[in-house]
Amino acid sequence: MSGQDDTPRPTPEQLAAMSHDELVRLGSTLDDVEIAYRQERWPVPGTRAEKRAERAVAGWFLLAGVSSLAAVAVFLFWPWEYSGAATANHGLYVFYTPLLGTTIGLAILGIGVGVIAYSKKFIPEEISVQQRHTGGSPEVDQKTTVAVLSDSLQTSGIMRRTLIKRSLGFGAGALGIMAVIPLGGLVKNPWAQGDSSPLWTSGWTPTNDEKIYLRRDTGRSDDVVLVRPEDLAAGAIETVFPFRESERGDHEALLAALHRSDNPVMLIRLRPDAAAMVVKRSGQEDFNYGDYYAYSKICTHLGCPTSLYESQTNRILCPCHQSQFDALTYAKPIFGPAARALPQLPIEVDEAGYMVAKGNFIESLGPAFWERKS
Ligand code: FES
Repeated sequence: MSGQDDTPRPTPEQLAAMSHDELVRLGSTLDDVEIAYRQERWPVPGTRAEKRAERAVAGWFLLAGVSSLAAVAVFLFWPWEYSGAATANHGLYVFYTPLLGTTIGLAILGIGVGVIAYSKKFIPEEISVQQRHTGGSPEVDQKTTVAVLSDSLQTSGIMRRTLIKRSLGFGAGALGIMAVIPLGGLVKNPWAQGDSSPLWTSGWTPTNDEKIYLRRDTGRSDDVVLVRPEDLAAGAIETVFPFRESERGDHEALLAALHRSDNPVMLIRLRPDAAAMVVKRSGQEDFNYGDYYAYSKICTHLGCPTSLYESQTNRILCPCHQSQFDALTYAKPIFGPAARALPQLPIEVDEAGYMVAKGNFIESLGPAFWERKS
């Protein structure tokens, strides 16, 4: 903003003595702003129509406030943890995301429509024309700009419309709270349970010396189908999950074993010619059972499931960012962004002929994290 050269400039003394309105007019003149048309929305103040319009705008802000608080309540109190179709909480759980979306959407809509409605119903209609200027802004321009901005606030009339001011404060305040509250979910101590913290454990972590079987997922969580070596042909792969006898008949436990994100393990039966070329990792020499090798399915890059096993090349592929792991070399990464081998689960066959875990993984599963020990 820069004034025209031919516009008379006030002296500092004159400037200091000017009233608010005079500063506004001076600012417009210096800015080469010509107000071509200006019309108050409500020339006669206090009419019933004006009150009605005021209540309508306030209603939108109130909707925003109530919806924001409802979103906060849903976020804090609604059952959000996964509940399977046959569980008691399933009916509530399925509404968690739709309710959050609806309440947050209404909150944003309420503020947006309220602001638009206010500007259409209460801000004076005005058409102004301003010439463009270049260069910096002298002190007189800076002062008059502040005056013009403050005049805009006064002209908008919002300072004297208490109902709208309060409802806007309520709506915008609640919207702000709604935006900040979810950050609280990030404030957690992942190591609160010591050595039993989720990042150190998985469903394969031994509990009470109970045998852990390799279980097939049939699509029905209550079916328990254990895996025998003869179930896999040479060059085949099967995704398996942990199963303990103490979980038999326990719907929740069986479901949890299938759903825990770091439980899936790829059981691969190598072709005999490929098995002859295997290079074992130091410390994992006895982790396989014959031609059977079990690797965590969770990619060590960013945790996608590395579901693609190509039996001709013995490569395991992660579809997310194309990392490839060599199944003949302890699932070492040979291409792509993953930098760590897929952890290997030690396996054997028990006296009844079922495949079982011989022990736990000896390193953490999935993507790297600062505290990882191996
Ligand atoms: S998550 Fe597997 S390559 Fe990125």
